[in-house]
Amino acid sequence: MPTIHIESQKKDIAPRVLMPGDPNRAFYIAKNYLENARLVNKVRGELAFTGKYKGVDVTIFSSGMGIGSMGIYSYELFNDYNVESIIRIGTAGSYDPELKVYDILLADSVYSKTYFDEEAGHENIEIINTSFELNSTIMDTALLKGMKVKQGRVHTTEAFYTENKDYSKFIELGCKAVEMETYALMYNAKKFMKKATALLTISDNLITHEEIDSESREKKLNEMIVLALESIIKK
Ligand code: HPA
Repeated sequence: MPTIHIESQKKDIAPRVLMPGDPNRAFYIAKNYLENARLVNKVRGELAFTGKYKGVDVTIFSSGMGIGSMGIYSYELFNDYNVESIIRIGTAGSYDPELKVYDILLADSVYSKTYFDEEAGHENIEIINTSFELNSTIMDTALLKGMKVKQGRVHTTEAFYTENKDYSKFIELGCKAVEMETYALMYNAKKFMKKATALLTISDNLITHEEIDSESREKKLNEMIVLALESIIKK
C-alpha cells in the first residue's frame, strides 16, 4: 500500500524508525549496523532500509532537509504504516557557549515560528514536547554506556541562511540549539499520538563560531547512532 512518496509495502517498514536527514547516512547506518538490511524505498532518492539490530526490526528512513520534507515522510510513516516511534538523528547549531561542538543534545521540546501548524491543521502551536518515554529510555541507555547527553529545547528554523544574527529571542525562549526538521516530526507525532524525539550532535556553535572537523564528526556520529539504535529497540 505505497503512498505518493513512499513505495514500501506496509510490512517492509518496521514500527521502530530512525530518521537521519541524509540518504547517504541512512545507507551507512544500514550497512554498518543492521543485519540483513534491505532497501525498501528509493523514491526521490530518499533511501530507506529495514533490517535487524540485535534481533529487532528497525527501519532507517532519510527525512531529507527541512520542515517540508520531514513533514511529508513522518506524516506518511505514522498514518500509512505501522510506525509507533521515530528518533530523528541529526546535527544542530548551538546557541549556548556551554553546549559545545561534539556534545549530544536530546530534544525535550521544540519551538518553531512557522506556518506549518496553521496550514496543516488550523492550529497555532509554537512549542511541542517530545516523548518523555523515549527520552527516559535514551537517558538511561546513555548513562549505562557512560555517554554524556544534555536535554533541552530545540529551535526549528525554515531558513538556514539568515541575515539576522540576533539569536536572543530564541535563547530567551529556552532554545539551546537550532536545526530544521524536529518541529515537523513532533507535530505529526502529536497529531497521530505516536512517540518521537530528536538526538542531535552539535556541529557548530553560533555564538563561539567553533566548528566540527570531519574525522571527529564521524566518531561522534557513530556514538549517537549506537545510542539511538540501543534505545529504539527497548521501546
Ligand atoms: N542552522 C540551521 N540548521 C543547522 C545549523 C544552523 O546553524 N547547524 C546545523 N543544522
